[in-house]
Formats: sequence, C-alpha cells, structure tokens
Amino acid sequence: MSIAASTPWNNLTRHAREIAGLHLRDLIQDADRCRAMTAKAEGITLDFSRQNATTETFQLLLALAEEARLRDKIRAMFRGDRINSTEDRAVLHVALRAPKGESITLDGINVVDEVHDVLDKIRAFSEKVRSGSWTGATGRPLTDVVSIGIGGSYLGPEFVHEAFRTDPECARSAEGRRLRFLANVDPIDVARNLEGLNPETTLVVVVSKTFTTAETMLNAKTLRQWLVTALGPDSVAKHMVAVSTNLEAVQAFGIDPANAFGFWNWVGGRYSVCSAVGVLPLALQYGMEHVGHFLDGAHAIDRHFLDTPTERNIPAILGLFGVWNSTFLGRPDRALLPYCQALLKLAPHIQQVDMESNGKRVGLDGQPVPFPTGEVDFGEPGTNGQHSFYQLLHQGRVVPADFIGFTKSQRPMDVPGEPVSNHDELMANFFAQPDALAVGKTAEEVAAEGVPADLVPHKVFPGNRPSNVLLVDGRLTPDAVGRILAVYEHRTAVQGFLWGINSFDQWGVELGKVLAKQVRSQLARSRKEGAPIEGFNPSTTALLKTYLGT
Ligand code: F6P
Repeated sequence: MSIAASTPWNNLTRHAREIAGLHLRDLIQDADRCRAMTAKAEGITLDFSRQNATTETFQLLLALAEEARLRDKIRAMFRGDRINSTEDRAVLHVALRAPKGESITLDGINVVDEVHDVLDKIRAFSEKVRSGSWTGATGRPLTDVVSIGIGGSYLGPEFVHEAFRTDPECARSAEGRRLRFLANVDPIDVARNLEGLNPETTLVVVVSKTFTTAETMLNAKTLRQWLVTALGPDSVAKHMVAVSTNLEAVQAFGIDPANAFGFWNWVGGRYSVCSAVGVLPLALQYGMEHVGHFLDGAHAIDRHFLDTPTERNIPAILGLFGVWNSTFLGRPDRALLPYCQALLKLAPHIQQVDMESNGKRVGLDGQPVPFPTGEVDFGEPGTNGQHSFYQLLHQGRVVPADFIGFTKSQRPMDVPGEPVSNHDELMANFFAQPDALAVGKTAEEVAAEGVPADLVPHKVFPGNRPSNVLLVDGRLTPDAVGRILAVYEHRTAVQGFLWGINSFDQWGVELGKVLAKQVRSQLARSRKEGAPIEGFNPSTTALLKTYLGT
C-alpha cells in the first residue's frame, strides 16, 4: 500500500487545508510554539518555528514518520541492509566516518577495518607528498594537485575544500600548496585548471567510482598527455594516482595499482566525499589531521541521527518539513542559504546529493508514486543572494529556505568606527531575512509610512513564507563542515524513506549518456569520413548539420 493511502497521510492532507488561513506573523509570537519547534544537538540549533505549521502539524508529521517506519529504515541503512534494491547494494557512507574499532559487518567483513586501511594508506601517501619525500619525475616536490572527477567525484570534495580554505588552521597547513578540480569535459576547464601549473610540480588524482565516466576519462587522458609531453612516459608513475572501486580499469589506464586508493560499491557517488574521493585530495592539501576532524564531525551527526528520537532529530525534522512543504503544500523548490562565504559550494553539492537521490517517479515496488518527489534545490551564500534572487523569495513564489549561520567567523574583522564587526553585519542580515519572509509587511503598514496609494501594492510583502534557521556554535571548522554535510545527507535519506522511493540509485542519468554516445560516433564518422548524418530526428539532424557546417 502506498503511504499516500495511509491515515497519517490523509490527516496531513486535511490538516494542510485546515491551517491554510494561519499566518506566520501571528504564529511566530507564540513562545511555547517557538520552544516546541526548536531542536539542539551537536552544536547546531535548528529553529523550525517559521514553518507554515502548528505544533499539531509537527505531531501529524511524526505520525507519518511512524507509519513510514522511519526509525527502522534508518537502522537498516546503518546495519548495512541492501536498501539500494535496484542495484542490490548496501548504503554505508556512515561507515566511512566510523572510528577505528567500530564494527559494521557486510558479507562477513568488517567494513570499518577496510575503511581504516585506506585511510592509513592515504595518511602515509599524503605525508610523503607533503613532506617532499615523494617527488616528481625531475626530483622536485609536488606542490600542486589537480583532482579530476565529475558529479559525486567532484562536488563534495570541492565543497569541503572551499570550506577549509579560509579556516586559519587549515590555511596554515596548506601554505605553499594548491588544489584544483577539473570536472567539465569542456576544454576550457582544462585550460583554466592548467593556468600557471608546472607539470614538474603537479600531481594528478583521477577520481572515478566506475573509472568509465566519459568526461573523467577524457580529462585524465588529456592530463596524462600534458605530463608525458613535458616529462616523458615514465612520469605517469610519479605524477598520477587514482581513486576508484574499479582497480582493474585503473591499471588498464596505466596507473600503478599501488598508487590507487580504493572504495566500495556500498558508497554512492554523491555520498562519497568521506571516502578516498574526498579524503585523498583534501589530505594532500591540508594534511590528514584536519580531514580527520571533518570525518569526526560527520560521525557525530551519524550518531545523533541513529540514536535520537525523531522529534529531536535534526536531519529527521528537516526531512519531515521537506515532505510537508513539497508534497502537502505543493512547493517544488527550496533554497539553501549559508551566511558564510566559505560555504559557497554547499548548495551545488547538496543539489546533487538531493536531486540525484530523490528525483524519482516510482516507489520501491516499481509503481508510480502518486505525488511528485524531490525538490529543485538551489542556493547562494548570503548576503550575495539577497542582491540576486531574494526579490522572488519575498514577493514572487513561495520558496522554503534554510538559513545557516555561525556564532563566530573564520576570519573575524573590525573596521574602526563601524558600529558592529563585519561578522555581526553579516549576521544582522541572517537574523533579519527569515523574519522578513515570515512576517512580511501589510498594505496598512506600508500606507502608514506615507507611501503614495499607487505605490502601496508594490511595497507590500505578503510574508507567511517558510524557513528553517540553523545556527551553529563557533566558527566553520573542519568538524562543523562534517556535521553540516551529514545533516543534509541524512535529510535526503529521510525524505526518500518517507516517500518510499530508492534514494540511492540514479537510473535517470543513463539515457543522456547513451544518446551522447550515438552523437559522438556520428561526429567522428562525419569529421573523418564525411559520413552523412543519419539516425536522428529532423531537429537534431538540422542542428548537427549547422554544427558541422555541412
Ligand atoms: O552523473 C551520474 C554519475 O554516475 C554520478 O552519480 C556520479 O557521481 C558521477 O556520474 C561520476 O561517476 P564516477 O565517479 O563513476 O566517475
């Protein structure tokens, strides 16, 4: 039976109609409701009192979680059950940050031991590179790293790199080193990546779970060519290493398996930043100690997620209100708005985590789900976003938003004579925006300011627009990066568990890849042999003719 036929689901559908007339302007004044709609754990305060919801809504959502057997599904994931049923795989990214000595058994093997074997190998290798004892083909230390990968083999590592980059301790550890990411198959990305790099001092890390992804393989060949042209064929052994689950393909490519760092098919690409996918490039740039703190932070949230009852469980609450907003209130989009410039790549990363996971059309049973799943996720750091798309958030469509802020800055600054510090200035906006969205401004309030009558409607803010506020204690440290990552990874899982879909496969990316293969061979035949374009519809045929100039 679909969850949509259950009593808790029907109760929520009815309840959504019943509370449609309530306005956050009034709801937000209730101190008891505000207390009941705040959760604190692991240094994160989640205030969800600006949801279009009453305390009864919250109770009804908790009943839905019961109906969906949310706690059982979370336990099954942590236990290593094969919950990715279409690929017959366990989903164990939580094992990637489990401390040494813990045990998660899959097919009779303690995967935590395997994880720590790879972490130890990364520690040893990254120390050699960082200390200069591992040198390039001409004997020079490798100070620069280009990490090649796309999707889950890129977005998470780049998000964490950007978050670490301005942390004072991380910055000290990275002095004299550069880390870049080459993702797009667009040759412009190659050119931008190689700007100012010297092959003699560059290490290339090829990151691909499958080691078959077309873009990554072409970029890997391109950089291999760059190295070989400058330093000769033997340089590959010193200048190229790999991260993959497909160690045979790594060897076939010409990278010594001794220089390969493995992971496992129970790690989904978009959940792989805590595997060698992220750990290797980050350890090369910052050293293993900081990366260890990041893994510890993610693990702290894993424990919280597994052990804490749903009503106080931060990822679970976020997921419940994700479902409430998108499915019951019909809001297909949501914004992720960190008031922290170092989190500039959080939204692009979570966009993949969430949209590749939950953009599905059928349930686990293969039947179409009778409601849309997944949201359109986007975001930008504040205050930049305020000067970009917030106009639409305030007076256009209703877009649920998450505001993330910190009590301290990575880089505290004061300008003499200014009333507040630079971080306080940022945070003034952080606290103001959720209220502007929730409370709004009525026509009477606008008119009372003496605004001419014809302008009044233009200056009205309807308000009643939902948001979550996540306030994190302290500054954005590696540990906090890990906690934020895990919160959003688990939010996605919660929504998938509630909707009854498989959040861990991604069949929807396949068709485009197959069609690209057909176009690729047509382009090759046309360019080399002048072969006519055939096998495409009239529109694509005409476009290809224009492209080829034939
Ligand atoms: O875009 C689809 C996808 O399969 C993602 O899920 C994955 O993260 C990405 O491609 C890269 O895959 P790989 O790590 O195998 O190169």
